[in-house]
Order: sequence, then C-alpha cells, then structure tokens
Amino acid sequence: ASVRTQQSAARGLWSSRWVFFLAATGSAVGLGNIWKFPYITGENGGGAFVLVYLGCILLIGIPLLMAEVMIGRRGRQNPDGAVARLAREAGANTKWRIAGWLGGLTGFLILSFYLVVAGWALSYIPTTLSGTFSGVGGDASGEVFNGLLASPMRLIVCGTLVLAATMLIVGFGVRGGLERSLRFLMPGLFVLLLGLVGYAAVTGEFLQALEFLFVPDFSALTATSVLIALGHAFFTLSLGAGAMMVYGSYLPEGTSIAKTSVLVALADTVVALLAGMAIFPLVFGNGLEPGAGPGLIFVTLPIAFGQMPLGQVVGGLFFVMLVIAALTSAISLSEPSIAWMTERFGLSRLKAVLVSGGLLWVLSLGSVFSFNLWADYQLFGKTFFDSLDYLTTNWLMPLGGLMTVLFTGWVMKEQTVRDAIGIRHGGLFRAWWLLLRFGTPLAIVLVFLNLSGLI
Ligand code: PHE
Ligand code: NA
Repeated sequence: ASVRTQQSAARGLWSSRWVFFLAATGSAVGLGNIWKFPYITGENGGGAFVLVYLGCILLIGIPLLMAEVMIGRRGRQNPDGAVARLAREAGANTKWRIAGWLGGLTGFLILSFYLVVAGWALSYIPTTLSGTFSGVGGDASGEVFNGLLASPMRLIVCGTLVLAATMLIVGFGVRGGLERSLRFLMPGLFVLLLGLVGYAAVTGEFLQALEFLFVPDFSALTATSVLIALGHAFFTLSLGAGAMMVYGSYLPEGTSIAKTSVLVALADTVVALLAGMAIFPLVFGNGLEPGAGPGLIFVTLPIAFGQMPLGQVVGGLFFVMLVIAALTSAISLSEPSIAWMTERFGLSRLKAVLVSGGLLWVLSLGSVFSFNLWADYQLFGKTFFDSLDYLTTNWLMPLGGLMTVLFTGWVMKEQTVRDAIGIRHGGLFRAWWLLLRFGTPLAIVLVFLNLSGLI
C-alpha cells in the first residue's frame, strides 16, 4: 500500500471527491450530449431510439462506468498499465492489457474528429455575436453552416485553436489545468439549457417535440439504430476510451465509486434530454428535418438566437459554453494516451503533449477535408469523418467495454473487486457484480449479433 501511495502522490490526485465528480461530469457532458444526441435521435426516428439508449445507459453504461473507475483507482496508472497490473495481481495473462490499450487508442482517434466539431462551435461564437443570424430562417441558417464546412481554412484554424487549448491545459497537469475551468461550467451550462428549453417551449412546437422524443415508435427502429444507441451510450459516458479509467487513477481512496458514477450518468442524461427538448421544438416549429444530420444544432439554434431578445449575446454565451464543455471532454480524451507515453516510455509531459498534438493535428485534417476537398471520397457511403465516428463509437468503444467487463467480472478475483469498488452494502454489490458478469456482456454481444443478422 505504501508503494501505491507514493506512486500516486507523484502522479497527482484530485484534491477532493467533488473535483473528481466535476472532472468526470466534465468528461461526460460535451458535444455528445448537445451536438450528437439530438442529431442521431433525429436520424433514428425519436422515441424508440431514446428508450434503447436509456436502457443501454442503465444496463451497460453505469455498471461499466463503475468498473472503469475502479480499475483506474486500483491500477493507479494509464489504462494500459493499470489493466496489466491488475492482471498480474490476479495471476492472469497480461495480454488483458489490450482492454486498456485499445481504449487509449480509441480515445485518441475520437479526439481527432471531436476537435473539428468543437471548432465549429468555436467559429460560431463570433458568427453569432456579430448578428449574422438576426431574423434568419432555416435556409439562411443552413447556408451559414454550409459556408463554414466549405472552407478548409476556417475549419483548420478553429480546430487548431481547440487542439492548442486542449494541449495547453493537459500540459499543465491534472490539478492545475482542469479543476479551475470546471467549477463554473456545469451550473452555467445547465441554467442556459433550461432557459433555451423554456424559450423553445413557448415559441416552438413543444408538444410535437415531446411526442417525438418520448413516445416510442418501434417500427422506426432498425438493427443499426440499436447499435448506434449502444455506441452513443458509450460515447456520452466517455466509456471504452480510457477516459474514465485514467480519471479513476487520480481518484483518492475512500470516495464512493458507485454513488459518483450514478450521479455522473444522471447529470449526463439530463443534459442530453434538455438539449433534445430545446432543439426539437425549433426543428418542428421551423419546418426543418429532424434527420438533417450533424449540422442539426448549428442550423436550428441560431434561428432561435436570431429571434429572441438579446439573442446575439445569449447565442454567443451558448457557444462559449459549448466550447468549454467540449474542451473538458477533449482533455479527458487526450489524457489516457499522454499518461501512457509518459508512464510507459518515460517521455516528459511536454514531449508527450507535443507528439500527440502533432499526430492529432495531421489526423484531424482527414475530418476537415471530409466536408469539402474529399467530400466525394467515400467508403460504404461514408466520408472519412463519418467512417471514423462510426468505427470508433459503434465498434471500438463497445468492444473495449466488453473486454473490460469480462476482465473485471471473470478475470479479477471477486474479493479484489469487492475491496477495490468499496460498495459496503452486500446486496448492492451482488446486484452490480451479477449485472457486470452476465447482463452487461450479454447485452453487448446481443447487439453485435443482432446487427450481423444472426438473431
Ligand atoms: N462523453 C463525451 C461527450 O459526450 C465524449 C467523450 C467520449 C469524452 C469518450 C471522453 C471519452 O461529448
Ligand atoms: Na456525454
């Protein structure tokens, strides 16, 4: 134990459980909630998709979130090293480390397109503040968005700024960089979203939106939709990407992993549903298509900002908060691979930041060009951006998650897990343990089989 304490002291720990909660929530709440959730819900037919997604959060997301944080805290290393250490502790093959390693790689790949979308939000700050949207309708708003996508230069500049900000914060280490930016963001974002829901409820088609979001129509649900709902449960809770493991590795002993995980999942879900309730009344109210794709919020919300009193300011503030929410997620996406480089290969933090920043920048160009220069190069009907998103979110994350639950439930010793997770209530531990060993892996496998047409 003393070795472990010394090592963790050198790596740095969150200064309190409240800060861990903020950081984990900061990782979870991001573009996934506000940008992605509404547009994929729109593309996949609404209510039934939302229901499956919520089921995935409950059955798969929360149990796995607890397992990832537990592995991180017990392993006290980057995901790769943490799983390897726990495998050794259990007397098992250290090849299981691939569960951690794959997560880090997945997070890295996701970050390469995540920062491009965060760049859209960044570029919308000046666009909104300068009054571009005053009085616009759906067509004009769509033109503004398409104009942004058509310009590689603007996308590169904005993406680079987001990348630079992320790397700067990550470079300052866990405590210095993260904690400060997190304290005011969550409450602020929450209040602003509530206000937008209120505005949309008064001016838009609120009832139609609620019906779309919450009345399931199962005929709209395909096998692919189910896979996308599963993938999004991973994406939105930052699972299968090393993020929650690496954050767990900075968590002081004695914090309740179970309670924190449930609260993080709850906060994340509430933000996503609020975003949906803010956007769909405007979609229907302005005769827009729910299935319009990745531009949905960037086309819809500006219409509202262009109509409401003080809309320029409110809109500017909204995109500022969206960028910060994206940054706190981007930080958690980059931390696993950076911790890996420093701990596995002894690179200084600065070198690790520079190396991964450079690689990410190059990779992000692929996503940038997907919207303009390379828009016609498609694989199975998907651009580079779409393919990367589809592969990482819907396949790599659930795959990494599956390996992690199998490792926790079937490789680690029950007593070790019991000590590490720290659930004192015997019945609650059993419930989680059973779910993790049987329910969670089965659910993931069923979704995969369902998609391949086998069941
Ligand atoms: N959860 C973040 C979001 O919803 C994205 C993310 C994925 C962050 C994986 C970290 C790891 O925007
Ligand atoms: Na999220």
